[in-house]
Amino acid sequence: MKIDPWSSTTYQDYTRLRDEFGIEEFSEKLWKELPHPHKLLRRGVIIGHRGFKQIHDAVINKKPWAILTGLMPSGKMHLGHKMVIDQLVYYQSIGADINIAVADIEAFATRGYTLEETMDFAFNEYIPNYIALGLKPEKCRIYFQSKNQDVKDLAYILGKKINWSQMTATYGFNGSTNMTHVFSPLVQTGDILHVQLKEYGGIRPTLVPVGVDQDPHIRLSRDIAQAHRLYNVTVTKDNKIGVFVKIDENVGNLLDDAEKTLSKMNFKKLKRITDYKAIYVNDAEKSDIPKINETLAKIELSHGGYGFYSPAGTFHRFMTGLTGDKMSSSKPESAIFLTDSPEIAKKKIMSSKTGGAVTLEEQKKHGGKPDECVVYELFLYHLIEDDKELQDIYSSCKNGKKMCGECKKHAAELIEKMLIDISKKRKTAKNKIKQYLE
Ligand code: TRP
Ligand code: SF4
Repeated sequence: MKIDPWSSTTYQDYTRLRDEFGIEEFSEKLWKELPHPHKLLRRGVIIGHRGFKQIHDAVINKKPWAILTGLMPSGKMHLGHKMVIDQLVYYQSIGADINIAVADIEAFATRGYTLEETMDFAFNEYIPNYIALGLKPEKCRIYFQSKNQDVKDLAYILGKKINWSQMTATYGFNGSTNMTHVFSPLVQTGDILHVQLKEYGGIRPTLVPVGVDQDPHIRLSRDIAQAHRLYNVTVTKDNKIGVFVKIDENVGNLLDDAEKTLSKMNFKKLKRITDYKAIYVNDAEKSDIPKINETLAKIELSHGGYGFYSPAGTFHRFMTGLTGDKMSSSKPESAIFLTDSPEIAKKKIMSSKTGGAVTLEEQKKHGGKPDECVVYELFLYHLIEDDKELQDIYSSCKNGKKMCGECKKHAAELIEKMLIDISKKRKTAKNKIKQYLE
């Protein structure tokens, strides 16, 4: 199995996906202590993560941390895209600084739009919706891939640590893949890592909230971040904690600096073996590794390194389309667009695929299947904040008290409210775009 970020596959078996790719489960202990955890986190819509613990700790300890994500400006925004922005609004409210890439290079490379067209989508559709959905201008910046020189520079420079075999193995590129497309994962790595450059806030934990199809890019960015580190902190074969210099130049100085730093951190049993390019920290525990790693990252800057922390990622499941397969812009009847009128949205909901039984009688007797129902999904992802209220819908569906007709109407009413609200806010949003652009 391969995860293809550019296909329209929808993934059903998230457990298998996690197992196969080593994505970790986004368990309760990761979100429970966050301030007013968002419904998408609470309700299992975020199905996995890499490295979220570092984000969790930054939030709890009130340390600076960043969000970086991106969307391709292509076509119209639908409820699936809204999920990403909803998360950003939440993370902004708990202290993250928000960075959003307008992935115009990627849309140009993979979707066949001109850069002018993508600009149009960005200004008339995407950015106004981000604002309408509640992103605040403070600590928020939106930029275009094609316009940010630092992002593009990183794409070129960091690409040195990745070779063609790795790219084809990860992405299945072949002889006919166009070179801008080949390059786009590196641009995305540039997106993800540039926020840790000094001019963008410096080295700090960074979270990339994305759909699970983006995992190959997250892996690539984490690999590249790691590959550019000058120190490696690890448990050795004989179970010691060791700090190793990864490069061959300047080793003495790097070891000197590491030694000083470790002493300042109050480790006393340091054993330096210059020939191994190593310092063993004999009074450190395994649990000290992240702290040591992060502290050493910061001194890498003065040795010509970047000191990037490995970016964390969270992965959300995809919304089911109203027709039962994936929600996709290319199939208007499968998606509710943020610019749909309430009447259109209602029509789509009324003719959607539910988890109801074939006849009313049967449904009264055996109940419906909310877990297989797109209307229930609408409640869960977008329409109902209160967990108890959601639970009530779930059980009254299951035990046959609730029928699909009234249930759909309920969803349509709530969608109407939501769409009217977004559309109102979108009207004033256009004048505010400037405040968000870098
Ligand atoms: N590849 C993403 C998509 O398909 C868009 C994107 C570009 C992105 N740069 C990013 C996502 C950086 C997360 C982080 O929509
Ligand atoms: Fe879905 Fe509602 Fe019908 Fe249950 S009653 S299957 S939740 S539409």
